[in-house]
Amino acid sequence: MAIAAHAANSTAADGAAETSKPVEIQYAATPGRGYTGRGLDFVDLGALARDVHECRRCPLGFSRTHAVPGVGPSSARIMVVGEAPGQNEDQQGEPFVGAAGKLLDQLLRGIGLSRSDVFITNILKCRPPNNRDPQPAEVQACSPYLEQQLQLIKPEVVLILGRHALARLLPGQESISRLHGHVIVKDAVTYIPVYHPAAALYNSFLMGPLQQDFKAVKAHLDRVEERRRAATLVATPAPKPEEQLTLFG
Ligand code: URA
Repeated sequence: MAIAAHAANSTAADGAAETSKPVEIQYAATPGRGYTGRGLDFVDLGALARDVHECRRCPLGFSRTHAVPGVGPSSARIMVVGEAPGQNEDQQGEPFVGAAGKLLDQLLRGIGLSRSDVFITNILKCRPPNNRDPQPAEVQACSPYLEQQLQLIKPEVVLILGRHALARLLPGQESISRLHGHVIVKDAVTYIPVYHPAAALYNSFLMGPLQQDFKAVKAHLDRVEERRRAATLVATPAPKPEEQLTLFG
C-alpha cells in the first residue's frame, strides 16, 4: 500500500521553523485487519470504561489504585494514544494529568485545540509498578479495550505518543525517530506518530521536533478540512441561470 506522508522538517535547534516536505513511504496492508475490538462489544465508551474499572485481565489490575480508561468525547476527530498511566494518573483516574499532560495540553493549544476536543487514552489502562515499561503480555491483555475505543470513536487521526504506542499500533514498522511527524494510513486508519511529551521533558533536544510534529498534525487536519470543503462545493449544484435571475430580478 502506498502512503503519501508529510513530515515537518525539523532539527532540535529549529523547532519553531515551519516547513513541510512530502515523503513517500510504503507499508503493506494487513489482510483482514482494521480495528475490530476483538471479543468486546460495548455499546459505548461509558460501558467500556465501567469494564476497565473492574478489569483483572493482567496483574496490573491488582496493583493499580485507579484504572484509567481514557477521557474525551466519542465524537473526537483526534484520538491521542500514550503509553500507560503514571503515578498522578493512577491516583486521579485520568490520563495525562502530570507534567507530560501539561505539556500535551500546551501542544494541543498551540495548534488551536483544547484537551476537551480530543479523546486521550493509553495502550495500558493501569499503571505499571514504578512506571516501568509495559510488558508484552500486559499490552496484549489490554489490547481489546484500545481496539474497541478506536472502533467506537473512529477518529480522523490517531496521534501516537512515543515508541511504545507506536510498537502497539504499527507493529514491526520503523522507529519513532524515523516516523515522527509523518502521516501514515494503514488498514483505513490514519496515524501520526509524535515523540512522547515525557521524552521531550527528559531530553530537551526533542522539544523542537515535538513542536514540529504538532505542526504536522495541524497541517494534516487543515488538509482534511480543505478537502471536505472542496467536496461540499462539488456536491452543491450551482443555481440554474433562471434561478439566479429570479434572485436579482
Ligand atoms: N504518560 C503516558 O503515556 N500516559 C499518561 O497518562 C501519562 C503519562
